Amino acid sequence: MTAIDSETQNQRVTIDVRLDRRRWSDHLAEETRAGLSDEPPWIPPVWFYDELGSDLFDQITRLPEYYPTDAERQILGNHAAEITRITGAEHLIELGSGTSEKTSLLLDALAENGLRRFVPFDCSEEILRSASDSIAAKRPEIDVHAVVGDFHEHLDALPMEGVTLLAFLGSTIGNFEPDQRRRFLTDVGNVLGSDDWLLLGTDLVKSEDRLTAAYDDAQGVTARFNLNSLDVMNAELGANFERDGFDHKAVWNQSESRIEMHLVARRDHRVTLNALDDLTVELADGDHIRTEISTKFTRDQIGTELNDAGLEVASSFTDNNEDFLVSLARPAQR
Ligand code: SAH
Ligand code: AVI
Repeated sequence: MTAIDSETQNQRVTIDVRLDRRRWSDHLAEETRAGLSDEPPWIPPVWFYDELGSDLFDQITRLPEYYPTDAERQILGNHAAEITRITGAEHLIELGSGTSEKTSLLLDALAENGLRRFVPFDCSEEILRSASDSIAAKRPEIDVHAVVGDFHEHLDALPMEGVTLLAFLGSTIGNFEPDQRRRFLTDVGNVLGSDDWLLLGTDLVKSEDRLTAAYDDAQGVTARFNLNSLDVMNAELGANFERDGFDHKAVWNQSESRIEMHLVARRDHRVTLNALDDLTVELADGDHIRTEISTKFTRDQIGTELNDAGLEVASSFTDNNEDFLVSLARPAQR
Protein backbone atom coordinates (compact mmCIF):
# COMPACT_ATOMS: atom_id res chain seq x y z
CA MET A 1 0.00 0.00 0.00
CA THR A 2 1.66 3.20 -1.17
CA ALA A 3 -1.04 5.73 -0.39
CA ILE A 4 -0.02 9.18 0.67
CA ASP A 5 -2.08 9.20 3.80
CA SER A 6 -2.17 12.88 4.46
CA GLU A 7 -0.45 16.17 4.02
CA THR A 8 -0.14 18.53 6.92
CA GLN A 9 -0.76 22.29 6.61
CA ASN A 10 2.90 22.45 5.75
CA GLN A 11 2.96 21.41 2.08
CA ARG A 12 6.51 20.13 2.27
CA VAL A 13 5.67 17.39 4.79
CA THR A 14 4.13 14.21 3.42
CA ILE A 15 3.37 11.04 5.32
CA ASP A 16 3.40 7.70 3.50
CA VAL A 17 1.73 5.01 5.61
CA ARG A 18 3.11 1.59 4.63
CA LEU A 19 1.94 -0.21 7.74
CA ASP A 20 -1.37 -1.88 7.16
CA ARG A 21 -2.76 -1.53 10.71
CA ARG A 22 -4.54 -4.85 10.68
CA ARG A 23 -1.58 -6.83 9.32
CA TRP A 24 0.74 -5.06 11.75
CA SER A 25 -1.47 -5.96 14.75
CA ASP A 26 -1.78 -9.56 13.53
CA HIS A 27 1.98 -9.78 13.07
CA LEU A 28 2.69 -8.38 16.56
CA ALA A 29 0.07 -10.66 18.07
CA GLU A 30 1.66 -13.73 16.46
CA GLU A 31 5.17 -12.70 17.49
CA THR A 32 3.97 -12.15 21.07
CA ARG A 33 2.19 -15.51 21.11
CA ALA A 34 5.40 -17.21 19.94
CA GLY A 35 7.46 -15.33 22.53
CA LEU A 36 5.17 -15.97 25.49
CA SER A 37 4.91 -19.65 24.55
CA ASP A 38 8.71 -19.98 24.43
CA GLU A 39 10.82 -21.19 27.35
CA PRO A 40 11.96 -18.85 28.85
CA PRO A 41 9.27 -16.42 27.63
CA TRP A 42 10.04 -13.15 25.82
CA ILE A 43 8.06 -10.36 24.14
CA PRO A 44 9.00 -8.14 21.16
CA PRO A 45 10.46 -4.74 22.18
CA VAL A 46 7.94 -2.87 20.03
CA TRP A 47 5.54 -2.92 23.03
CA PHE A 48 7.69 -0.27 24.73
CA TYR A 49 6.83 2.43 22.24
CA ASP A 50 3.36 3.83 22.83
CA GLU A 51 3.16 7.58 23.46
CA LEU A 52 4.20 7.25 27.11
CA GLY A 53 6.95 4.75 26.27
CA SER A 54 8.40 7.03 23.57
CA ASP A 55 8.42 9.84 26.11
CA LEU A 56 10.13 7.59 28.69
CA PHE A 57 12.72 6.60 26.07
CA ASP A 58 13.34 10.30 25.47
CA GLN A 59 13.90 10.73 29.23
CA ILE A 60 16.29 7.73 29.23
CA THR A 61 18.44 9.41 26.58
CA ARG A 62 19.02 12.29 29.04
CA LEU A 63 19.90 10.16 32.09
CA PRO A 64 23.45 10.45 33.46
CA GLU A 65 23.91 6.65 33.30
CA TYR A 66 22.69 6.27 29.69
CA TYR A 67 25.86 7.25 27.78
CA PRO A 68 24.97 6.08 24.18
CA THR A 69 22.96 9.13 23.14
CA ASP A 70 25.54 11.68 24.30
CA ALA A 71 28.37 9.64 22.80
CA GLU A 72 26.66 9.41 19.42
CA ARG A 73 25.72 13.10 19.55
CA GLN A 74 29.38 13.94 20.15
CA ILE A 75 30.42 11.79 17.17
CA LEU A 76 27.85 13.35 14.85
CA GLY A 77 28.77 16.87 16.06
CA ASN A 78 32.47 16.25 15.36
CA HIS A 79 32.10 14.39 12.05
CA ALA A 80 28.91 15.59 10.31
CA ALA A 81 30.93 17.83 7.96
CA GLU A 82 33.22 14.94 7.01
CA ILE A 83 30.26 12.59 6.50
CA THR A 84 28.71 15.24 4.26
CA ARG A 85 31.92 15.67 2.27
CA ILE A 86 32.45 11.92 1.79
CA THR A 87 28.88 11.06 0.85
CA GLY A 88 27.66 14.17 -1.01
CA ALA A 89 24.18 12.96 -0.04
CA GLU A 90 21.15 14.57 -1.66
CA HIS A 91 18.70 12.51 0.37
CA LEU A 92 18.87 11.43 4.01
CA ILE A 93 16.74 8.49 5.19
CA GLU A 94 16.64 7.66 8.91
CA LEU A 95 15.31 4.28 10.08
CA GLY A 96 13.74 4.03 13.56
CA SER A 97 14.01 7.81 13.60
CA GLY A 98 12.01 8.56 16.78
CA THR A 99 12.36 12.26 17.58
CA SER A 100 15.36 12.61 15.16
CA GLU A 101 16.92 14.84 17.80
CA LYS A 102 20.60 13.94 17.13
CA THR A 103 19.93 13.83 13.40
CA SER A 104 19.68 17.65 13.41
CA LEU A 105 23.48 17.71 13.51
CA LEU A 106 23.63 15.74 10.27
CA LEU A 107 20.80 17.69 8.71
CA ASP A 108 22.56 20.99 9.41
CA ALA A 109 25.75 19.89 7.66
CA LEU A 110 24.00 18.12 4.77
CA ALA A 111 21.58 21.02 4.18
CA GLU A 112 24.49 23.40 3.65
CA ASN A 113 25.66 21.11 0.86
CA GLY A 114 22.56 20.55 -1.17
CA LEU A 115 20.48 18.02 0.79
CA ARG A 116 17.02 18.05 -0.79
CA ARG A 117 14.96 15.59 1.18
CA PHE A 118 14.76 14.00 4.62
CA VAL A 119 12.88 10.71 5.02
CA PRO A 120 12.26 9.77 8.68
CA PHE A 121 10.98 6.17 8.94
CA ASP A 122 9.37 4.75 12.09
CA CYS A 123 6.53 2.42 13.09
CA SER A 124 5.03 5.13 15.31
CA GLU A 125 2.94 7.54 13.24
CA GLU A 126 2.46 9.97 16.15
CA ILE A 127 6.16 10.45 16.76
CA LEU A 128 6.85 10.74 13.03
CA ARG A 129 4.25 13.45 12.58
CA SER A 130 5.54 15.57 15.40
CA ALA A 131 9.23 15.09 14.46
CA SER A 132 8.52 15.84 10.78
CA ASP A 133 6.61 19.03 11.53
CA SER A 134 9.30 20.37 13.80
CA ILE A 135 12.11 19.55 11.33
CA ALA A 136 10.22 21.13 8.41
CA ALA A 137 9.58 24.27 10.46
CA LYS A 138 13.30 24.65 11.18
CA ARG A 139 14.53 23.82 7.65
CA PRO A 140 12.34 25.34 4.97
CA GLU A 141 14.82 24.34 2.23
CA ILE A 142 14.31 20.56 2.76
CA ASP A 143 11.32 18.38 1.83
CA VAL A 144 10.27 16.01 4.60
CA HIS A 145 8.73 12.75 3.42
CA ALA A 146 7.93 10.57 6.44
CA VAL A 147 7.31 6.82 6.06
CA VAL A 148 5.34 4.82 8.64
CA GLY A 149 6.71 1.30 8.31
CA ASP A 150 8.35 -1.74 9.86
CA PHE A 151 12.11 -1.78 9.27
CA HIS A 152 12.03 -5.59 9.15
CA GLU A 153 9.51 -5.56 6.29
CA HIS A 154 9.34 -2.30 4.36
CA LEU A 155 12.82 -1.36 3.26
CA ASP A 156 11.64 -1.84 -0.33
CA ALA A 157 9.28 1.12 0.30
CA LEU A 158 12.17 3.53 0.72
CA PRO A 159 12.41 6.21 -1.94
CA MET A 160 15.94 5.64 -3.30
CA GLU A 161 16.42 8.41 -5.86
CA GLY A 162 19.55 10.56 -5.92
CA VAL A 163 22.61 9.94 -3.76
CA THR A 164 21.17 8.60 -0.52
CA LEU A 165 22.56 8.34 2.99
CA LEU A 166 20.64 5.74 4.99
CA ALA A 167 21.12 6.33 8.72
CA PHE A 168 20.33 3.80 11.44
CA LEU A 169 21.38 5.42 14.68
CA GLY A 170 21.17 4.87 18.43
CA SER A 171 22.36 1.23 18.25
CA THR A 172 18.79 0.15 17.57
CA ILE A 173 20.39 -2.65 15.51
CA GLY A 174 21.54 -4.02 18.89
CA ASN A 175 17.89 -4.74 19.69
CA PHE A 176 17.76 -7.31 16.86
CA GLU A 177 18.41 -11.04 17.27
CA PRO A 178 21.52 -12.14 15.28
CA ASP A 179 19.48 -13.66 12.42
CA GLN A 180 17.27 -10.52 12.25
CA ARG A 181 20.42 -8.41 12.11
CA ARG A 182 21.86 -10.49 9.27
CA ARG A 183 18.62 -10.27 7.30
CA PHE A 184 18.31 -6.54 7.94
CA LEU A 185 21.87 -5.75 6.83
CA THR A 186 21.44 -7.91 3.72
CA ASP A 187 18.23 -6.03 2.89
CA VAL A 188 20.05 -2.73 3.37
CA GLY A 189 22.87 -3.95 1.09
CA ASN A 190 20.26 -4.79 -1.53
CA VAL A 191 18.45 -1.43 -1.46
CA LEU A 192 21.59 0.72 -1.57
CA GLY A 193 22.69 1.78 -5.05
CA SER A 194 26.38 2.02 -5.95
CA ASP A 195 26.55 5.73 -4.92
CA ASP A 196 24.58 5.32 -1.69
CA TRP A 197 25.79 5.02 1.90
CA LEU A 198 24.84 3.46 5.22
CA LEU A 199 25.56 5.31 8.49
CA LEU A 200 25.27 2.80 11.32
CA GLY A 201 25.43 3.63 15.04
CA THR A 202 26.47 0.79 17.36
CA ASP A 203 27.19 0.62 21.06
CA LEU A 204 30.54 -0.95 22.02
CA VAL A 205 31.38 -3.55 24.68
CA LYS A 206 32.45 -2.00 27.99
CA SER A 207 32.49 -2.81 31.71
CA GLU A 208 29.54 -4.74 33.06
CA ASP A 209 29.02 -2.13 35.78
CA ARG A 210 28.54 0.72 33.32
CA LEU A 211 26.31 -1.40 31.12
CA THR A 212 24.00 -2.54 33.88
CA ALA A 213 23.81 1.00 35.32
CA ALA A 214 22.81 2.33 31.88
CA TYR A 215 19.87 -0.11 31.84
CA ASP A 216 18.94 0.18 35.52
CA ASP A 217 19.20 3.87 36.35
CA ALA A 218 18.97 5.32 39.85
CA GLN A 219 15.82 7.33 39.06
CA GLY A 220 13.94 4.24 37.88
CA VAL A 221 13.06 5.65 34.43
CA THR A 222 14.22 2.49 32.64
CA ALA A 223 12.18 0.41 35.09
CA ARG A 224 9.06 2.45 34.18
CA PHE A 225 9.91 2.08 30.47
CA ASN A 226 10.20 -1.69 30.87
CA LEU A 227 7.01 -2.06 32.97
CA ASN A 228 5.09 0.15 30.53
CA SER A 229 5.25 -2.71 27.99
CA LEU A 230 2.80 -4.60 30.24
CA ASP A 231 0.29 -1.73 30.15
CA VAL A 232 0.67 -1.52 26.37
CA MET A 233 -0.02 -5.26 25.98
CA ASN A 234 -3.00 -4.95 28.33
CA ALA A 235 -4.42 -2.21 26.11
CA GLU A 236 -3.48 -3.66 22.72
CA LEU A 237 -3.92 -7.38 23.35
CA GLY A 238 -6.65 -7.38 25.99
CA ALA A 239 -4.22 -8.84 28.53
CA ASN A 240 -4.42 -8.65 32.32
CA PHE A 241 -0.81 -8.31 33.42
CA GLU A 242 -0.55 -6.69 36.88
CA ARG A 243 2.39 -4.32 36.58
CA ASP A 244 2.89 -4.06 40.35
CA GLY A 245 3.50 -7.83 40.32
CA PHE A 246 6.77 -7.49 38.35
CA ASP A 247 10.25 -6.08 38.96
CA HIS A 248 12.54 -4.58 36.35
CA LYS A 249 15.90 -6.31 35.93
CA ALA A 250 18.88 -5.61 33.64
CA VAL A 251 21.20 -8.60 33.11
CA TRP A 252 24.54 -8.75 31.27
CA ASN A 253 24.68 -11.90 29.12
CA GLN A 254 28.40 -12.35 28.55
CA SER A 255 28.20 -15.23 26.07
CA GLU A 256 25.84 -13.32 23.75
CA SER A 257 27.51 -9.94 24.47
CA ARG A 258 24.25 -8.24 25.31
CA ILE A 259 22.31 -6.52 28.04
CA GLU A 260 18.91 -8.09 28.48
CA MET A 261 15.98 -6.40 30.13
CA HIS A 262 13.67 -8.73 32.00
CA LEU A 263 10.49 -8.46 34.03
CA VAL A 264 10.61 -10.75 37.04
CA ALA A 265 7.38 -12.01 38.62
CA ARG A 266 7.05 -11.08 42.32
CA ARG A 267 4.32 -13.67 42.83
CA ASP A 268 2.52 -16.39 40.87
CA HIS A 269 0.56 -15.06 37.89
CA ARG A 270 -2.05 -16.44 35.54
CA VAL A 271 -2.34 -14.00 32.63
CA THR A 272 -4.91 -14.21 29.84
CA LEU A 273 -4.50 -12.41 26.50
CA ASN A 274 -7.93 -12.02 24.87
CA ALA A 275 -6.55 -10.94 21.47
CA LEU A 276 -4.43 -14.11 21.33
CA ASP A 277 -7.48 -16.40 21.49
CA ASP A 278 -7.37 -16.25 25.29
CA LEU A 279 -3.82 -17.57 25.46
CA THR A 280 -3.04 -18.22 29.12
CA VAL A 281 0.44 -17.71 30.51
CA GLU A 282 1.36 -19.18 33.91
CA LEU A 283 4.26 -17.52 35.68
CA ALA A 284 5.62 -18.59 39.06
CA ASP A 285 7.15 -16.23 41.61
CA GLY A 286 10.67 -15.40 40.31
CA ASP A 287 10.00 -16.31 36.65
CA HIS A 288 11.41 -13.95 34.02
CA ILE A 289 9.95 -12.51 30.82
CA ARG A 290 12.71 -11.12 28.54
CA THR A 291 11.55 -7.81 27.07
CA GLU A 292 14.63 -6.60 25.17
CA ILE A 293 18.13 -7.51 24.09
CA SER A 294 20.68 -4.76 23.53
CA THR A 295 23.76 -6.21 21.88
CA LYS A 296 27.14 -4.58 22.47
CA PHE A 297 29.64 -4.87 19.62
CA THR A 298 33.34 -4.77 18.87
CA ARG A 299 34.66 -2.80 15.91
CA ASP A 300 35.81 -6.02 14.21
CA GLN A 301 32.42 -7.65 14.57
CA ILE A 302 30.69 -4.69 12.91
CA GLY A 303 33.17 -4.76 10.03
CA THR A 304 32.63 -8.49 9.53
CA GLU A 305 28.82 -8.28 9.67
CA LEU A 306 28.81 -5.40 7.16
CA ASN A 307 31.15 -7.32 4.84
CA ASP A 308 28.91 -10.38 5.07
CA ALA A 309 26.05 -8.18 3.84
CA GLY A 310 28.05 -6.95 0.82
CA LEU A 311 29.03 -3.66 2.46
CA GLU A 312 32.45 -2.22 3.26
CA VAL A 313 33.38 0.34 5.90
CA ALA A 314 34.76 3.53 4.33
CA SER A 315 35.26 5.41 7.62
CA SER A 316 34.35 4.91 11.23
CA PHE A 317 34.12 7.40 14.05
CA THR A 318 34.12 7.10 17.80
CA ASP A 319 33.68 9.42 20.80
CA ASN A 320 36.47 10.50 23.21
CA ASN A 321 35.70 7.60 25.56
CA GLU A 322 35.41 5.06 22.73
CA ASP A 323 32.00 4.05 24.05
CA PHE A 324 30.14 4.14 20.74
CA LEU A 325 30.96 3.60 17.06
CA VAL A 326 29.42 5.21 13.99
CA SER A 327 30.37 3.41 10.77
CA LEU A 328 30.03 4.82 7.28
CA ALA A 329 29.70 1.96 4.82
CA ARG A 330 28.96 1.51 1.13
CA PRO A 331 28.27 -1.36 -1.23
CA ALA A 332 31.50 -3.30 -1.80
CA GLN A 333 33.17 -3.56 -5.27
CA ARG A 334 32.33 -0.14 -6.63
N1 SAH B 1 16.93 6.65 16.47
C1 SAH B 1 16.52 7.24 17.72
C2 SAH B 1 15.39 6.47 18.40
C3 SAH B 1 15.73 5.08 18.87
S1 SAH B 1 14.37 4.33 19.76
C4 SAH B 1 17.71 7.41 18.62
O1 SAH B 1 18.82 7.11 18.18
O2 SAH B 1 17.56 7.89 19.75
C5 SAH B 1 13.84 3.11 18.59
C6 SAH B 1 12.87 3.67 17.58
O3 SAH B 1 12.56 2.60 16.68
C7 SAH B 1 11.53 4.13 18.17
O4 SAH B 1 11.22 5.40 17.67
C8 SAH B 1 10.52 3.06 17.71
O5 SAH B 1 9.22 3.59 17.48
C9 SAH B 1 11.17 2.57 16.43
N2 SAH B 1 10.83 1.18 16.09
C10 SAH B 1 10.76 0.10 16.92
N3 SAH B 1 10.44 -1.00 16.23
C11 SAH B 1 10.30 -0.61 14.92
C12 SAH B 1 9.99 -1.31 13.72
N4 SAH B 1 9.77 -2.64 13.72
N5 SAH B 1 9.96 -0.61 12.57
C13 SAH B 1 10.19 0.74 12.56
N6 SAH B 1 10.49 1.45 13.67
C14 SAH B 1 10.56 0.78 14.84
C1 AVI C 1 16.42 1.90 21.23
N1 AVI C 1 17.46 1.09 21.83
C2 AVI C 1 18.70 1.19 21.07
C3 AVI C 1 17.67 1.32 23.27
C4 AVI C 1 18.84 0.45 23.80
O1 AVI C 1 19.71 1.01 24.46
O2 AVI C 1 18.88 -0.75 23.50
C5 AVI C 1 16.39 1.03 24.06
C6 AVI C 1 16.60 1.09 25.55
N2 AVI C 1 16.27 0.14 26.38
C7 AVI C 1 16.57 0.52 27.60
N3 AVI C 1 17.13 1.71 27.56
C8 AVI C 1 17.14 2.10 26.28
